[in-house]
Amino acid sequence: MIAAAEVRSQRPYSPTGGAEFYTPAHPSVLSAMKDFFGYHPAPHQPIAFTHKVHLAAGLQCVVCHAGVTSGPEAQLPSVRLCMTCHQAIATEKPEIKKLAAYQARGEDVAWQRVYDYPPYSHVKFNHAPHIRAGIGCQACHGDMTQQTVAVRSVNLTMGYCLSCHRQQKAPVDCLTCHY
Ligand code: HEC
Ligand code: HEC
Ligand code: HEC
Ligand code: HEC
Ligand code: HEC
Repeated sequence: MIAAAEVRSQRPYSPTGGAEFYTPAHPSVLSAMKDFFGYHPAPHQPIAFTHKVHLAAGLQCVVCHAGVTSGPEAQLPSVRLCMTCHQAIATEKPEIKKLAAYQARGEDVAWQRVYDYPPYSHVKFNHAPHIRAGIGCQACHGDMTQQTVAVRSVNLTMGYCLSCHRQQKAPVDCLTCHY
């Protein structure tokens, strides 16, 4: 079984920084238009996950997003992690039955991404330095205690990144955030 977090770490990586290949081009006119209007369709998640309930129960983000303090990617939890609790908790609920069926099939949940950048934007982001600098998750993801499945409540445009970088004297050269 491949954990979701493992699948998600397969990102394009350029050891040279790859600045010479940088291009703002879009693969299609449609994707260019979607970007122009800042259009991000609401994802339809395969399971009605709820941040609200788990956070109210006192769970920390890092329990499920294990990479967030240590590396570039926060990562998404595997079914196995969910089932450490849900083999005993709320087992009669329909959504938990679905979850158990995934595990029985040896399959992971194909969560749709909420925050990410298309490859042609060549954005490189790293969670760890932000968490070390004491920036709360809500600065970039809004108040998760009020969200069931995650919604794109903050529009993480380049202008948004830059205004905080200028304010906090973090680096602003292009290669800080682009490869
Ligand atoms: C540390 C334990 C723990 C982990 C890990 C955990 N949950 Fe939960 N989950 C709970 C608790 C506690 C509740 C509240 C149960 C209740 O209200 O009866 C809950 C409730 C839920 C519900 C709501 C059920 C309903 O219909 O009321 C869903 C859906 C759910 N969890 C899915 C997941 C998924 C998916 C994962 C993995 C990404 C996960 N949980 C990981 C403890 C956990
Ligand atoms: C400075 C802004 C910022 C902060 C602070 C931040 N994030 Fe993110 N987060 C992002 C961006 C940008 C992405 C999309 C990155 C990409 O696709 O390359 C992202 C993606 C994610 C993802 C998707 C999976 C992944 O690995 O990319 C999760 C989960 C996540 N963040 C959780 C968190 C948690 C938990 C915290 C707090 C402990 C946090 N984030 C703090 C900006 C931020
Ligand atoms: C019990 C496990 C669990 C906990 C605790 C949890 N999350 Fe999540 N998170 C998930 C799951 C499962 C998804 C994928 C479904 C979705 O998008 O809501 C997710 C998705 C996200 C996303 C969207 C990722 C993307 O696709 O870009 C963000 C952002 C996020 N979580 C932030 C947080 C923050 C911040 C906290 C703590 C305040 C937190 N999460 C706590 C399980 C958890
Ligand atoms: C709320 C403030 C804030 C926001 C918003 C923010 N950053 Fe940062 N970022 C920082 C701070 C502060 C540091 C420096 C941390 C340090 O000194 O180690 C940093 C560091 C970084 C680094 C590591 C730089 C290096 O070489 O050490 C990258 C990459 C980065 N940010 C990318 C982004 C991107 C991309 C976005 C937008 C999605 C973003 N940041 C949004 C405050 C922010
Ligand atoms: C602090 C981080 C940060 C810095 C520094 C930065 N950018 Fe960006 N840039 C981003 C993010 C994030 C996006 C994606 C925005 C989106 O998709 O809404 C982006 C998008 C872009 C795009 C649009 C690409 C596309 O088609 O989607 C261009 C062009 C661009 N940046 C050029 C630059 C140049 C040139 C510099 C240096 C002068 C620079 N950026 C510095 C974060 C940064």
